[in-house]
Amino acid sequence: DVSHAIDLALFGALGDLAQGKLLPALYQLDREALLAADTRILGLSRHAHDTASFRQLVAEALDARLTDDEQDAESRTRFLRRLDYSPLEFTQAADYAAVGDWRGTATRPMVVYLSVGARLYGDICGYLQQSGSLGEHDRVVVEKPVGHDLASSNAVNDAIGEVFPEKQIYRIDHYLGKETVQNLIALRFANPLFGNQWNQNHISHVEITVAEKVGIEGRWGYFDDAGQLRDMVQNHLLQLLCLIAMDPPSNLDADAIRDEKVKVLKALKPLTPEAQERDVVRGQYIAGTSDGQPVPGYLEEDGANPQSHTETFVALKTEVANWRWAGVPFYLRTGKRLPEKLSQIVIHFRQQPHYIFDPDQRSLAANKLVIRLQPDEGIALQVLTKDSGLDKGMRLRPGPLHLDFNNAYPKSRIPDAYERLLLEVMKGRQYLFVRRDEVEYAWRWCEQLSESWQARSTPPRRYPAGSWGPVASIAMITQDGRSWYEDY
Ligand code: BG6
Repeated sequence: DVSHAIDLALFGALGDLAQGKLLPALYQLDREALLAADTRILGLSRHAHDTASFRQLVAEALDARLTDDEQDAESRTRFLRRLDYSPLEFTQAADYAAVGDWRGTATRPMVVYLSVGARLYGDICGYLQQSGSLGEHDRVVVEKPVGHDLASSNAVNDAIGEVFPEKQIYRIDHYLGKETVQNLIALRFANPLFGNQWNQNHISHVEITVAEKVGIEGRWGYFDDAGQLRDMVQNHLLQLLCLIAMDPPSNLDADAIRDEKVKVLKALKPLTPEAQERDVVRGQYIAGTSDGQPVPGYLEEDGANPQSHTETFVALKTEVANWRWAGVPFYLRTGKRLPEKLSQIVIHFRQQPHYIFDPDQRSLAANKLVIRLQPDEGIALQVLTKDSGLDKGMRLRPGPLHLDFNNAYPKSRIPDAYERLLLEVMKGRQYLFVRRDEVEYAWRWCEQLSESWQARSTPPRRYPAGSWGPVASIAMITQDGRSWYEDY
C-alpha cells in the first residue's frame, strides 16, 4: 500500500542517526516500493550544503551501509531524486520560511523528524508553527531520550504538545520496531499454548538481558550525563517488560495496546531503599578485553572525567504487582562492554507439581522459552525429552524446539527497526510509538534509582570490560536459587 504520500522534513539530516539509519531505512522502503511516488524528503541542518552536495553525501552513506544485494541502481536514483536540502539554524525563526517554500502548495501531510537533541524540540516545533508551514495533519517524530528525568521530560513534552496534539506525536523507541519484539505480541496473543500459560500459575520468573559489546563509541559526554539507566532501562528494557507483562489488549489499536502497557508501568513494585540494596546492582567497566583485544576502562575513554560515578551496567529485580504476576520476579540486566551483543528474554516456566525422574536432574525439569531479539532473531522452546540410547533408562535431555527467523523464512530480509517505524509514521499508525503517559510512568519508576544514586556518593561496582558485569549481579539472582540463562 503506497498511498501514503508525505513530505518529510528531516532536522539534523547530517547527524549520525540520519545518515547511518534514517536515510538508509528510507532508501530500503523505496526499494521495497513502499514510498509513494510523490513522497519528498527535505534535509535540514546548519551545515552549508545544497541539494546536490547533500545527495552526494547520502549516496556515500548508502554505499557505506548497504550490502551489494541491497544496492539497486534504479531505486537509488529514484531515492536520491526525492532529496532536497536547506541549511537552517535551528534557533533562527527567519530560517523556517524555507520549509514553507519547499512545501509550496502541496497538501500531503508533513512528517517532521527531529533527529536532534531534545532541548531543541520545543524551539523547532514553535518556529515551524510561527512560520506558518504546518498543516493540520502534520506529524512530529522525536527520538529518546525525551528529557533527563520526569521534570525535564514533562517540559519537553509540554513544548511539543503546544504545537502538536498527542495523536500526531510519534515518540520513537527503536526496540519497538524490531521484528522479534513485534513477534512478542503475535506469540502471546495468537498462540493459545502460550496465552493460557502466561501468568504466575505457570511462570516462575522472567529474565530480560540487553547486553552490548560496544563501549562508549566516542560519545562520552552524552553518555556520562545519561548512564545506562536512562539510556537503556527507562526506555528499551521497560518497553520489553511491558510487552511481556501486559494483559491482552482488546484489539490492536494504538491506544488499546498503550493502555495495557501503562497499567504494567503503574503496577511495578516501588524500589524501596531496602529493595535497592538487595535487588539492584550498578556497575562501571574497567579496562579489560573485547574480542581478545585490550580495551580501556570507562574512566580512561577519550574525554572522560576520571571521577565519574555514571553506571555502564544495571541489573535489577522487580515485580509487576498485579493478579497475573504476583510473586514472579523479573530480572533485568543491561550493560556496555559485555562479552557480546545479545538481547534476549527468557521465560522460565514452573516445574511439574510431582517429579518422577532421576533426582539429580530435577533442576533441569522446567521449560524455558527463549526469545532472541538479536543477533540471530528467533524463538526457542526448551523442552525435555528422553535421552536416546538403550542404556540411558529414563534420563532426561533438554533440547530446543527452535524457530530461527533467518533460516525459517530465508527469502524475507529482516528489516531494520527504523524502516518499520518510518513506514508506520507515514501510515499514521501509532501503536509502535510511546505515548506520553508511558514516558512519564517509566521516568517516575527510574527516578527512584537515579535520585538515590545521586544522593549517595557510593561509586558503582567495577567489572572488567569483556565480563558479564559485576559479580554482585550474579549474586543478586543466585540468592534466589536461580541463575542467568547461559546459552550464548
Ligand atoms: C540506543 C542507546 O538507544 O540503543 C545506545 O542510546 C545503545 O547506547 C543502542 O547502544 C542499542 O541499540 P541496538 O538496536 O543496537 O540494540
